[in-house]
This record gives sequence, C-alpha cells and structure tokens, in this order.
Amino acid sequence: MHVLAVASEMHPFVKTGGLADVVGALPAALAPYGVTVTTVLPGYPAVLAAIGDAEAVAHYPDLFGGPARLLRASVGSTRLLVVDAAHHFQRGGGIYSEASGREWGDNWRRFAALSAVAASVAAGAVADYHPDLVHAHDWQAALTLAYLRHGPRADVPAVMTIHNLAFQGGIDAGLFPQLGLPGSAFAVDGVEYYGGVGYLKAGLFYADAITTVSPAYADEILTPSHGMGLDGLLATRRGRLHGILNGIDTAEWNPATDPAVPDHFDAHDLAARARNREHVEQRFGIVGGDGPLFAVVSRLTWQKGLDILAATIDDLVAMGGRLAVLGSGDSAIEAAMFDAAARHPGKVGVLTGFDEPLSHRVQAGADAILIPSRFEPCGLTQLYALRYGCVPVVAHTGGLGDTVIDANQAAVAAGVATGVVHDPGSQEALRSAIHRAVTLHAQRDVWAAMQRAGMAADFSWRQSAARYAELYTSLLQERTPA
Ligand code: ADP
Ligand code: GLC
Repeated sequence: MHVLAVASEMHPFVKTGGLADVVGALPAALAPYGVTVTTVLPGYPAVLAAIGDAEAVAHYPDLFGGPARLLRASVGSTRLLVVDAAHHFQRGGGIYSEASGREWGDNWRRFAALSAVAASVAAGAVADYHPDLVHAHDWQAALTLAYLRHGPRADVPAVMTIHNLAFQGGIDAGLFPQLGLPGSAFAVDGVEYYGGVGYLKAGLFYADAITTVSPAYADEILTPSHGMGLDGLLATRRGRLHGILNGIDTAEWNPATDPAVPDHFDAHDLAARARNREHVEQRFGIVGGDGPLFAVVSRLTWQKGLDILAATIDDLVAMGGRLAVLGSGDSAIEAAMFDAAARHPGKVGVLTGFDEPLSHRVQAGADAILIPSRFEPCGLTQLYALRYGCVPVVAHTGGLGDTVIDANQAAVAAGVATGVVHDPGSQEALRSAIHRAVTLHAQRDVWAAMQRAGMAADFSWRQSAARYAELYTSLLQERTPA
C-alpha cells in the first residue's frame, strides 16, 4: 500500500513541535505493516539542504505566483517529495513566522500551494507514482483534501489528522477566488467556515476518516469547551473520528544509547542519572540540592499552562524544588520565567530557543518534568520523560491523562504509578501537585519505583501504527467496488 503523507514539518529535517516527531516517525513505524509512506514537504532551506541533488519529477509554471518544481528524494529510508518553490518557502526566519515572531502574512497561500501540489500528486502528476491513499496532517495540509475532491481523482481515500484543533487556518471569503478551487467548493458542504474559508474545516469535511492523537482528545473535541468551533461538524462525523495515541521513536529516544546524553543508563542503573542531573544544573546555572530538579521543555504558550507555572515558581522553590526551563514562545511568559530566575538565582534557570540535543539531556537529568497544559491533544514530552526516568507531573487533559498514571495511594501500593496528575487550569492544583512530587521524591524507594514503572511502559509506535494500517485498509476496501 502506498500512502502519500502531507505535512508542514518533519523531524529530523524541520521541527517546531510534536507534529514533526509524529510525521517523522510514522513512515518507519508503518513499514512492517506493508505500508510505504512518501511525505510531501515544503522546500524550506533546511529541507533542500538535507536532500542535496534530487530529481525533479513535476513542474508547476505558476504555483500561486511563481514557478515551482517537485523534487523526489530519499534520505535513508525516508521517501520525500519536496515542493521547491522559492517564492513560498525559501526565506529566513521561522517556517511559520518572521524572525520577529510575527506569522508570515501569506501562510494561507504558502500552505494552499503545498496542498495543491500534494493533491496533484494524488491525481497522477508524478508519472510512475500512484498513491492508494492520502494522509494530511493539521491545517497546513488540510486543503489537500479540497483540491483532491475537486480534481480528476476525487475517489482517492483520504485521512485527516488533527494534531491541534487550536490552529485551524482561515481566510476571508474575498481571498477564496485566489485558491483556484471551483466556486461550488465555497459552501457549508465544502470549505466555507463562518463566512470565510476554513482550512482545517475543509479537511474535516472532505476526509473519509478523521483521526486525532489520543483517545481522550477524540472525546474532548466533541464538546463545546474543547471543540473550538468545530465540535458541531465533528459530531456529525463522529462515526468517522478515531483517537489513535501517538507513539515515540524508541530507537532515537533510548537513554542507553542516546548520543546527546552524557551518561547512558537504563532502568536497572538509575545512578547515572545523578551525573546527567549535574550536567543539566551546570548548563542552567542551578546549584545542587536534595529536593527535586523540575524541568520544562516546551513551547511557552497559554495552551501549555506555563503562565500558571510562572506564577507558582516561588512556591516550588519554597518547597525545596529547583527548576530548569527550556523553551520559547509567548514573550510575556518568557519574561515571567526570566523574572523568576532573577528572584531565585541558582534555583531557577531559563534557556530560550529550540535545542534538540539539550531537550534529550534535560529529560535524562531532571527528576521531574512539569506539563500543566490547559489542553493537550497528545503530548510527547511526557512520553520521552517516562522513557528517561524523568517523572511527569501533568494536567489531566487529553493525551496527558491517557498516558500518565497518578501516584495515588492505590497506584503506589500496586507499583503502577508513573507520575503526578492534577486538574488543569488551576494554580492551586498545580501547587499541590508540585508539593506531592516533592514529598514522593523524598521517599526514594517510591520515587525509584515510579521511574522504573514509567521506563517499563510501552509507548512505541507498534500498536498505534497497526491501528493506522487497519484504518487505511478499511478505507481502501470501502472505496473498492464489490
Ligand atoms: P507540542 O507539539 O504541542 O509542542 P509535544 O509534547 O507533542 O507538544 O511535542 C513537543 C516536541 O517539541 C517534543 O519533541 C519536545 O521535546 C520538543 N520541544 C519543545 N520545546 C523545545 C525546545 N525549546 N527545544 C527543543 N525541543 C523542544
Ligand atoms: C500538537 C499537540 C501535541 C501533540 C503533537 C503531535 O502539537 O499540541 O499535544 O503531541 O501535536 O501529535
């Protein structure tokens, strides 16, 4: 089975968050099930540099304002089709925003271009490649389904995955004619969304199946409080909605072999973590101590609840905790973190920017990771933490609740507890969760048992990849005339 995946980021080429990890890991995870994935990616400078010389397999004389080529490349076992369109993708700054942090004003056009090219591939634009199914990820790829359904191969089955409903992609109706879709597509049964054009909405409408990245989030998005305006549409498509938990790449994230980790370890030898902790302390300017070293590795945003954490840092320190923050994002939250570090020199350290190797080292050395998200479709950082013996302290929402077992009395007694779970959105709940973590950490046997239970949990892609493969197969059967 040949699947054409479409996404705006993919690890190890370009990453701003968990989307890249998932898009990067799925192809290898699906291979054992007889699924060959080829991923359509924008030709950002980092992607073009990674593929080197590549064969042009299709040409677009005018792709929304300039010429473009489609490049076919393989990097290791990863198969790529890269949209080489300098006017859309070759620029400095970030992949979605200018260096200042302001989003590129033409993102709607850039990702319409990505989607139009992907749909053309599904419809046969590459002579010797005919994918059986299309799998689009998030709003940046969602219009692929609209172009597909209004193109010459409308019958190709398509899956739309929601990684985060908070990002929907939308434009004013006045821009609709520039998308190159037929007028009939501008309808409630089409791309129209509250009077404008909704990219994710379109993907959800045209998809044969909708997936999201945890079972709990699949339920939550059917409610007004988490549906973000799309709960009505999602409810009409409930029978087509599947929650498939994200996995992690357990070869890349393996504390026994990870090249980014100074001292390797496994569940039988947690002692090396102490040396890794010293490394993290040094890097963040934190002095040693008996209390736990907490960490954050995250986008610093409202979604992640890190404004709530910033307001709770004084309590964390008063309880004997220390804190290393690796992240960037919202300038007010960054400032609040730096203020806290200034108030607590040697106890709180903050590094901004995106640093992949350092994110591994933090997981390998910190005692606990804090993820107080207001909502969390899946979350990967708690999964990496579990694998690295770094105890997750998480809000009970979405995938966080699906993957962390709270250290209540019964779970501790049974030896199955893996972390501390608290109510989302409340400073008081976060404060008491931190207090529980500090108390548990002082009971060294209990803490070590939690670390080991977390490290033993299986969050590899095996089961979830099987579910995607089953879903693909069922959609292909549905479209095959009896
Ligand atoms: P989201 O995709 O919502 O940001 P996830 O938990 O699914 O949340 O994935 C976040 C990913 O980004 C993880 O791989 C995490 O390690 C990584 N990450 C987040 N912030 C940073 C950072 N500042 N430096 C390095 N990696 C980071
Ligand atoms: C999104 C979500 C995160 C999820 C990731 C990968 O960025 O915010 O919860 O883990 O996508 O699916």
